[in-house]
Amino acid sequence: MAEIVIVPDKAAAGALVADHIAGLLRANPETVLGLATGSTPLPVYEALRSRLEGVDVSRVRGFALDEYVGIDPAHPESYRSVITREVVEPLGLDPSRIRTPDGTPAGIEHHGEEYEEAIRAAGGIDLQILGIGTDGHIGFNEPGSSFASHTRVKTLTEQTRRDNARFFDRIEDVPMHCITQGLGTILRARHLVLLAFGEGKAAAVAGAVEGPLSASLPGSAIQLHPRATVVVDEAAASQL
Ligand code: GLP
Repeated sequence: MAEIVIVPDKAAAGALVADHIAGLLRANPETVLGLATGSTPLPVYEALRSRLEGVDVSRVRGFALDEYVGIDPAHPESYRSVITREVVEPLGLDPSRIRTPDGTPAGIEHHGEEYEEAIRAAGGIDLQILGIGTDGHIGFNEPGSSFASHTRVKTLTEQTRRDNARFFDRIEDVPMHCITQGLGTILRARHLVLLAFGEGKAAAVAGAVEGPLSASLPGSAIQLHPRATVVVDEAAASQL
């Protein structure tokens, strides 16, 4: 059973999770972070900025959860760009130690296994930050994803493309495919911290935390994890 923490708002969630991460980095400068994109984790990254003074972050490693396939890595909405802009630069991390799955045509064929190997070689992910999609996806593991899945290419659902259209000029510009850590990859992280805000996430949160274990709601995989923390506001907790 996941530990549920209900917070008043996004800023409180950001402060809580950022305090925890700053503590980890102080205790172990080689901490390996699992980084999520989307709007949900932004308050965490924002709050971390003021908490890393005097902390040696030069050896921190990071692995992003996912990336669009076929997007130019330099596109402002590629997850590589988002992680660079929201995490690497403001926190002063070493860009060579922060990886994003390779969604370029040259990269996708063998990249899944290479990414898994890179995570293993880093010693595994200490703390994985997660958001959740309105359809219950984590990373880009859309409904139907195997709980044992590894990093691989997936097709985005129409709903996810619609949800993410706000980051692009037109829905036609939202990529059709992605490369994502699998649910099995995510479950190997030592601690999962899933955040969700707003009523729109309430059904997905309830399904993930209390629903049956089901590939139709990929977030329910967190129930298999011995250490999962779910940080939600009242609205996102309203169906629990
Ligand atoms: C995106 C990302 C997920 C994210 C989710 C929710 O598509 N691939 O990692 O958790 O959808 O996004 P948001 O946090 O913007 O609601």
